[in-house]
Amino acid sequence: MKSWKVALLPALANTRLTVALDNGVGLKPHMGWSSWNVAQCNAASARYALATADKFISLGLKDLGYEYINIDDCWSTKSRDSSGRLVPDPAKWPNGIKAVTDRIHSMGLKFGLYGCAGDKTCAGYPGNEGHERGDVDQLVSWGVDFWKYDNCYTPCRQNPRPQTCTSPAGSTKTWYAPMRDAILGVQNTKKLHFNLCNWGRDEVWTWGASYGHSWRMSVDNWGDWASVERIGSAAAGIYQHSAPGGFNDLDMLYLGSSKLNTNQEKLHFGLWAITKSPLVLGLDLEKISNSTLDIIRNKGLIDINQDSLGKAATTFRPPGAPAPVNGKIYPYWAGPLSDGVVVGLCAGTSAGTYSVNFKDVPGLGGSGSYEWREMYTGQTGKGTSASFNIGLHDMRVIKVMKV
Ligand code: GAL
Repeated sequence: MKSWKVALLPALANTRLTVALDNGVGLKPHMGWSSWNVAQCNAASARYALATADKFISLGLKDLGYEYINIDDCWSTKSRDSSGRLVPDPAKWPNGIKAVTDRIHSMGLKFGLYGCAGDKTCAGYPGNEGHERGDVDQLVSWGVDFWKYDNCYTPCRQNPRPQTCTSPAGSTKTWYAPMRDAILGVQNTKKLHFNLCNWGRDEVWTWGASYGHSWRMSVDNWGDWASVERIGSAAAGIYQHSAPGGFNDLDMLYLGSSKLNTNQEKLHFGLWAITKSPLVLGLDLEKISNSTLDIIRNKGLIDINQDSLGKAATTFRPPGAPAPVNGKIYPYWAGPLSDGVVVGLCAGTSAGTYSVNFKDVPGLGGSGSYEWREMYTGQTGKGTSASFNIGLHDMRVIKVMKV
């Protein structure tokens, strides 16, 4: 992680990075669902994909912007066919993949698949190394819209290559480039979203935009509070690298698993939303509780996440506030919106009263009066400050506009 000095830069301006896959995709953080945290390999099937697509409609998620149905590891058979092609596991895809993408497209949704830059996927299925262009041609023929690309069994000084290499034989860039180029090669036929999943190695946020549209900036979200702290706090130091066409991916929203309480789920969702992470549900929509559903359907937060400016919030330190602690969620966050400023207040380490004077907020400053609205409670107010009692690990997110 970058130092807090970087995280606390007062200026929230960021610059557009060189976008290599400038194909009109990924101009906002992508929203959707992924099979992985639902039932790992067992969820990589047509049954889960289609049931989830139905839920996107019936739960109103599609109307809120959730779009991608992404199947993760384990969707193919364990080996390629005699022509070197990937084979969808017939037990999981009885009618093949195209039948599923056609159905999903007919519902106005998009479909994603998963591959790996090494010679095997993390779960031991065929990887894409050395097959990049042929595999992308297959994806295009199936109508796939999104491609997550993992980092297991990649070139390594250890022999044989382990699943997770601790001594890589080079930069991950080396093995992400051929897939990027293959995707560029089909650009005229298919605009694929390319999601890099190199777990934040080699400071991917500094070069991810010239390789893909989004990049995982950490190892996995394991669904517990410690993961929310680890990933959420690290997002502060790399905020300036997110912009339309390329976003830091804080990993799936691991809600509804009972590892987080409601306050923690609210902070998890709220922080991912304001830092402009993709909002990808990692949960079983057949089993979702009403309280989790309320969180993922918070339109105010979704609108902030999808704001056209595409600038991520980061931490700021009001006068008298304590210094940030590495790995802990800092209380004060802010980021610019096309029509105002978002301020996040996080009770990451203790419950209490959290107040903000708008003159201390980067992007607000100066004199004047403001109107604000809080996204979880619906509270509104006017004036030069706002104050909230916040329970442990809960969050308040206000949109502030000058009047
Ligand atoms: C990990 C990745 C996870 C999931 C898993 C599948 O490397 O970070 O998000 O894709 O592999 O095996």
